[in-house]
Amino acid sequence: MKKVRWGIIGTGQIAHSFARDFCHVKAGELRAVASRDKATADTFSAEFDIELAFVDYFSLINSNEVDVIYIATPHVYHYDLAKACILAGKAVLCEKPFTINETQSKALYDLALEHNVFVMEAMWTRFNPVIEQVIEWVEEGEIGDLNSIQASFNFLAPTDPNHRLMNVELGGGALLDIGIYPVFLAQLFFGKPDFVQNQAVIGDTEVDLFEQILLGWESGQLASLDASLISCNPNRAILSGSKGYIEIDSEWFKAKSCRVVGSDGAERAVEFDFPGNGYQFEADEVNRCLEEGLIQSPNHSWQNSLELIATLDEIRHDIGLSYPGEHHHDEEEVHHHHHEHSHHKH
Ligand SMILES: NC(=O)c1ccc[n+]([C@@H]2O[C@H](COP(=O)([O-])OP(=O)(O)OC[C@H]3O[C@@H](n4cnc5c(N)ncnc54)[C@H](OP(=O)(O)O)[C@@H]3O)[C@@H](O)[C@H]2O)c1
Repeated sequence: MKKVRWGIIGTGQIAHSFARDFCHVKAGELRAVASRDKATADTFSAEFDIELAFVDYFSLINSNEVDVIYIATPHVYHYDLAKACILAGKAVLCEKPFTINETQSKALYDLALEHNVFVMEAMWTRFNPVIEQVIEWVEEGEIGDLNSIQASFNFLAPTDPNHRLMNVELGGGALLDIGIYPVFLAQLFFGKPDFVQNQAVIGDTEVDLFEQILLGWESGQLASLDASLISCNPNRAILSGSKGYIEIDSEWFKAKSCRVVGSDGAERAVEFDFPGNGYQFEADEVNRCLEEGLIQSPNHSWQNSLELIATLDEIRHDIGLSYPGEHHHDEEEVHHHHHEHSHHKH
């Protein structure tokens, strides 16, 4: 089997975490990195023993030395970069959110189909062994009928108004950065929700600082989710069913353990002893899909990704948060059913 050659665009926080875990990837080689800055590219390539350091993103995208490109820039740049990769025939693993809205994501997946190029949103949590275990327990009926999910993603973000998380020009805010995870978990089990409600608190820089999201399905399930850039929380997830519940330990999106507890209190815990933070599993998935000649992962498909961003669009529309190049007020009312409008100014 030919080793898949990887390139990374961007050298920030997640690029470092990903590169650190890459030594645990089963097959494949970290071949190149691209930064806007030469010194940064050189430092990063030296730190992770990467052969090629490009000082502009497009030289990497057009290089014949890589097969797949991992995009690790702020959200607002994902669309243009992924588009360029697809047009250059490079497979893409793009950080979450795949793009800032459904329109952009749809355009990219259409383009990937047209050019027969593999593309996947880097929803790494999907490939964590704990999540695989939880899916198995639910499918085997360990907790009876799963009818409710509670999940949080909170952390203390930098308060600097220019930081990407606070800066609306860079796609800042809690929802797209971390709210995407609990929504992902709920939709993994229940699919696209029929009802979407939320309460958000908007900060001084006009991005959402925190929110509570309530999703509902006509078939009788509910999810109660929250995301915050200004709160501390154990970040657990609980899946409740008619015969018991599953608890994913803190912090659920990168957990190494989980338990299933029956209605009689009987408990079974499972621990996974994997190295690193677990970013290796999404890379393994990409390598496997490329090996099999797939252009999308069956485990985090284009439709999964589109349904995820559609829910985030709906919430963002409700709280009146738009990003550069978006004109919510001119748009047709497409997603405005079942909505409770409510947001507060912080
Ligand atoms: N999967 C996860 O667990 C996880 C965790 C954190 C973030 N993320 C996602 O990864 C993406 C990047 O987040 P991050 O926390 O790594 O951000 P970050 O630390 O700010 O790094 C972003 C990198 O993007 C490049 N970049 C290009 N244009 C930029 C601009 N105008 N401003 C700032 N940086 C720019 C920079 O690399 P160069 O200077 O080298 O060009 C920068 O180092 C986001 O989409 C986020 O949602 C995922």
